[in-house]
Amino acid sequence: MSTLVTGAAGFIGSHVCHRLLDRGEAVVGIDNMNDYYDPALKRARLDQLLPRSGFRFRQADIAERETFDALKGEVPIRRIVHLAAQAGVRYSLDNPRAYIRSNVTGHLEVLEFARHLDTLDHLVYASSSSVYGGNTKVPFSEDDRVDQPVSLYAATKKADELMSYTYAHLYGIPQTGLRFFTVYGPWGRPDMAYWIFTKAILEGKPIRVFNNGEMWRDFTYIDDIVDGVVSVLDARAEGSPPHRILNIGNNRPCKLVDMIDILERLLGRKANRVYEPMQPGDVERTYADIEKMRQAVDFAPRTDLAAGLAAFVEWYRTQFPTARLEQGSASG
Ligand SMILES: NC(=O)c1ccc[n+]([C@@H]2O[C@H](COP(=O)([O-])OP(=O)(O)OC[C@H]3O[C@@H](n4cnc5c(N)ncnc54)[C@H](O)[C@@H]3O)[C@@H](O)[C@H]2O)c1
Repeated sequence: MSTLVTGAAGFIGSHVCHRLLDRGEAVVGIDNMNDYYDPALKRARLDQLLPRSGFRFRQADIAERETFDALKGEVPIRRIVHLAAQAGVRYSLDNPRAYIRSNVTGHLEVLEFARHLDTLDHLVYASSSSVYGGNTKVPFSEDDRVDQPVSLYAATKKADELMSYTYAHLYGIPQTGLRFFTVYGPWGRPDMAYWIFTKAILEGKPIRVFNNGEMWRDFTYIDDIVDGVVSVLDARAEGSPPHRILNIGNNRPCKLVDMIDILERLLGRKANRVYEPMQPGDVERTYADIEKMRQAVDFAPRTDLAAGLAAFVEWYRTQFPTARLEQGSASG
């Protein structure tokens, strides 16, 4: 029996695959290797996974029905971790169709695949803290209303939750939707602030600090996220319908400018900060209430931001040694 991981060459997906393989599980990974960010990074993540025993990979698009037709009967799938999506808030302003295709049509195809699997135990899928939109009551609880998304990305993630609820109701498919809160760490995503800032600081370029620095994020380290995803996968959703939504975050929001201070210390360089207004689609604050996640799987994130960013910076320097040289010569 295998676990299917969609988005296996992505940031969170590749880490989840490693953890499942570490436990001796068989994993089938799917990813279309799109160029939303440099596919070389996706290939590099995949290069770490491909030699591992128990891992099989298929380059395919989840929005295409044929992808799943080809999978049917090939290997028995017991569990699914569905992480493939068009991520990013700002990109959705210019590329709305990419979000509907991957996040809505793609999510439907995963649900249709799950519906016809006799062997399925549990489907865990990625939602996002973005569904909380401009909510001002903190921390954000799963019981809060989330029907005022401020980006199309958020709207597609909310749509996923609704579609999953319906499939759990109609077909009894056990599912858990995880609302991820700003995940960061080694092998991370180049479109996210911690990466953009690290790169710019090392290159001596200005960084754009939105909402004049009045932004808070519940930064959550990748190892804590993987602990949570795998624990949830093991604890099948029960009830009628068998569907639940859980926040997965650090529960300790940090101000964006404090994150920049930490990066400056780690990199040994001052950032050239350019303060700018709020960007359309963005939210001022994310802050996860993780009580439900705690109760479900004893979730307890362990990594504070300084330790997590130190691990990221160390990884970044090994991946991009030129940046280290530039940094070294400039500061030396
Ligand atoms: N990283 C975060 O902070 C964060 C926060 C909230 C939600 N999420 C969600 O978690 C999931 C994983 O995010 P990530 O940070 O690893 O992003 P990522 O972009 O690194 O990973 C997603 C992967 O899915 C693949 N993909 C996209 N569309 C596809 C399609 N149609 N068919 C097949 N593969 C496709 C991409 O090539 C990519 O490798 C996503 O659903 C994302 O929306 C992430």
